[in-house]
Amino acid sequence: MGGSSVQRLVHADCIEFMQGMESASVDLVVTSPPYNAGKEYEADLSVEEYVSFAERWVSCIPRILAPSGALWLNVGHIKVSETENVPLSYLYYPLLRRYGLHMLQEVVWHFEGGMSYKTRFSHRTERWMWLVKDPKKYVFHLDDVRDHTLNIGSDNRNNPAGKNPTDYWHFPRVVGGRGASREKTAHPCQFPVAMIERIIRACSNPRDVVLDPFGGSGTTAVAAYQNGRGFISVETNQRYHEIAKARLERLHKENGAEPPPDLERLAS
Ligand SMILES: C[S@@+](CC[C@H](N)C(=O)[O-])C[C@H]1O[C@@H](n2cnc3c(N)ncnc32)[C@H](O)[C@@H]1O
Repeated sequence: MGGSSVQRLVHADCIEFMQGMESASVDLVVTSPPYNAGKEYEADLSVEEYVSFAERWVSCIPRILAPSGALWLNVGHIKVSETENVPLSYLYYPLLRRYGLHMLQEVVWHFEGGMSYKTRFSHRTERWMWLVKDPKKYVFHLDDVRDHTLNIGSDNRNNPAGKNPTDYWHFPRVVGGRGASREKTAHPCQFPVAMIERIIRACSNPRDVVLDPFGGSGTTAVAAYQNGRGFISVETNQRYHEIAKARLERLHKENGAEPPPDLERLAS
C-alpha cells in the first residue's frame, strides 16, 4: 500500500492548481467533475457557461499527463430546461478531442436505486470516458482486473483468473440512510472505491501518480493508496477536504503508518 512517495491532498481550486503543476507529472487522471445537477457544491450554470468551465479544466490535462497517460472521466447528464437533458459526454467529447486527447472507449456504469421518474425512464447509468494521450502507447493490464464471477460454470475454457469485465460495469452506488454503504462519508456524491480500484489497476503501474482534480471525499486517493500508487487529490470545499484528510489518515493508521507530512502540510 502507498507505494509512491507522492501523497497529496490539496485544498485548492483545481484549475489554478493544475496550471502550476509540472509537465508530464501525472500518469492517470480519474475524476468526476460537477454536473450542474443541483448538488450542494454546484453552481447553476447555463450550457454555455458549463462548457466554458469544462474547457478551463480540460485544457490543463494534456500538459500534465505523461506521454503514456490516460484520463478516466465520469459523467452523467446536464439539465438544459425543465424537460431537456443532454448527456455530458456529448459536451465533453469535442473539447477533449480539441485538446489532443484520444477516446479509446466508453464504459457504462450501472447502479440500482435513485429517483423514480414519471415522465421518462428512471436514470440508472452513468458513463466513463476513457481517453489517452497516445493511442499507440497506453497502459492496460487486463490480467489485473479479470472478473472470475463472470466465468460460466465449470467450462474448462474459462481463464481461472476470470473474464474481461467488459464495458458494462455494475457497482452499487455509495448511499446513506437505511442500509448505508460502509464506506459512506458526509460527501453527497462518492465514487465506490471498488470501481476506482478497477480503473487504477488496469490503467496505471505501481508507484504511478494518480490525480483527481475534483477529489471530493478522496475516493480516488484511497483507491490509489490501497494499490501502491501515488495520489494528488484536489478539492476546493474545506469540509470535503477535511473528510478526505480524515479518510486517508484513518487508512494510514490502520496500516500502522504515520500520515506522511504532505497530508498535513499541503492540506491548508
Ligand atoms: C462529483 S464530486 C466528486 C466526488 C468524488 N468523486 C468522491 O468520490 O468523493 C465533485 C467535487 O468537485 C469539487 N469541486 C468543484 N469545483 C472545483 C474546483 N474548481 N476545484 C476543485 N474541486 C472542485 C466539489 O466540491 C465536489 O466535491
